[in-house]
Amino acid sequence: MKVFSVILLLAGSFCHTATAGQQLAYNAFEENSIDFCGPECFEKLKPLLDNAVEMKQRCEDFGFQIDLLNEQMVELRGIVELQSKEIDELKSNHNQQGEESTSSTPSISTISSISTPPTGCTSTEIGRNATTLPTKCASYEQSRILQIQVPGTDPFQVHCHVEQMDEPAWIVILKRSGGQLDFYRNWTSYRNGFGDLADDHFLGLEKLHRLTRSLPHELLVKLTDFRGNERYALYSSLLIGNEQEKYALQLLGRYTGDAGDAMSYHLGNAFTTYDKDNDGWSRGNCANYYDGAWWYGWDANCNPMGRYFNGEYRGHSGIWWYTWKDYDLMQSVKMMIRPSHYTLMQD
Ligand SMILES: *[C@@H]1O[C@H](CO)[C@@H](O)[C@H](O)[C@H]1NC(C)=O
Ligand SMILES: *[C@@H]1O[C@H](CO)[C@@H](O)[C@H](O)[C@H]1NC(C)=O
Repeated sequence: MKVFSVILLLAGSFCHTATAGQQLAYNAFEENSIDFCGPECFEKLKPLLDNAVEMKQRCEDFGFQIDLLNEQMVELRGIVELQSKEIDELKSNHNQQGEESTSSTPSISTISSISTPPTGCTSTEIGRNATTLPTKCASYEQSRILQIQVPGTDPFQVHCHVEQMDEPAWIVILKRSGGQLDFYRNWTSYRNGFGDLADDHFLGLEKLHRLTRSLPHELLVKLTDFRGNERYALYSSLLIGNEQEKYALQLLGRYTGDAGDAMSYHLGNAFTTYDKDNDGWSRGNCANYYDGAWWYGWDANCNPMGRYFNGEYRGHSGIWWYTWKDYDLMQSVKMMIRPSHYTLMQD
C-alpha cells in the first residue's frame, strides 16, 4: 500500500537530487496515501519509475567508487586495531618476562604473524587465547558452528555456512525457515541476537557492527519462495554502525543477483524495532506496521524479519522481497556475510 511512494522516494532520496517540485509531489503522495491509485495509475507512473531506476544506477556507479575507498579505510583501521592489540599483548608478555629479557624486543615480522606466538617470549594464557581464535570462517567441507573473535568483543559463536566447498564459508547473520522462533522482538533482543545458531536465528546488531567494522565484508541474501524457486542478492560491502549510530546501514556496495536490489532503498537508515522507532515515517513505527524490525526508512522494500506465515497469507506483515515477488511470502531467507577479499580477488 505504501509501495508506489517507496519507489518515488527512492528516486528522490538517492544522491539527494530531489528538487523542491519533486519533493512536493512525493509529499502529496504521502499525504493522500496510495489507496486510490489503481493499475491505470501505475501505467502512468511507469516511465517515471524507469527513469528513477536509471538515475539510481548512475548514482550507484559513482557511489561504488566511494564505497571502495571507504572499504580500504575500514580495512586499514581494522589492521591497525589488530596490530596495536597484538603489540599490547607482546608488551604485557614482555613485562612478565622481567628485566633479563629486555634484549628480545619482538620484530615487526613477529608482530604481524597472528597464529604463532612470538619467539623469545613465553606466551601467557591471555596471549595464547587471543591469538588462536579465528576472525572469520575458512573453507570447510561442511557447515559448522565456530568460535571467533573480532577486535572489541569477547569471543562468540557463529554458524559458518558452506555455499561452495572451495570457497570461504559465510557467517549466517539471519536465518528464517519456519515459524517457531518469534522475530517480533525489542531493541535489546536485536542488539544481542537470539535464536539457535543451528536453526533460525539472528546473530545480533552489535556483533554485526564489530564484524563489519573490523574488515570489509560482503553480504549474500538467499531467498526461497513457497514453490521452491530460489533467488539471491549479493552486495559487495556491508557496514553497520555502532549503537550510538543506531546500528545504521552505512554501506551496501554494488548489487548483483536475480532477486532485485530491494535493500539499497534502506541504505543510510537506522535500525528500528517496535520499542525503538528510528525510521523516517512520522505517523507511526514501521516495525509495528510491518510486524518486524529492519532498517526501515519512510517505508520498506523488503521485510526479512517480518512475521512467518505458511504461505496462505499475502500482505505487508509477512516476509517479502518486493523487487522479486511483491508481497508474496518467502519460505526461507538466509542473510550471510564474509570478508570481501575473496570476491574482490576473483574480479
Ligand atoms: C584462556 O584459556 C584458558 C583455558 O582454555 C582459560 O582458563 C583462561 O581463562 C583463558 N583466558 C582468557 C583471558 O580468556
Ligand atoms: C526485551 O525482551 C527480552 C526477552 O524477549 C526481555 O527479557 C527484556 O526485558 C525486554 N527488554 C525491554 C527493555 O523491554
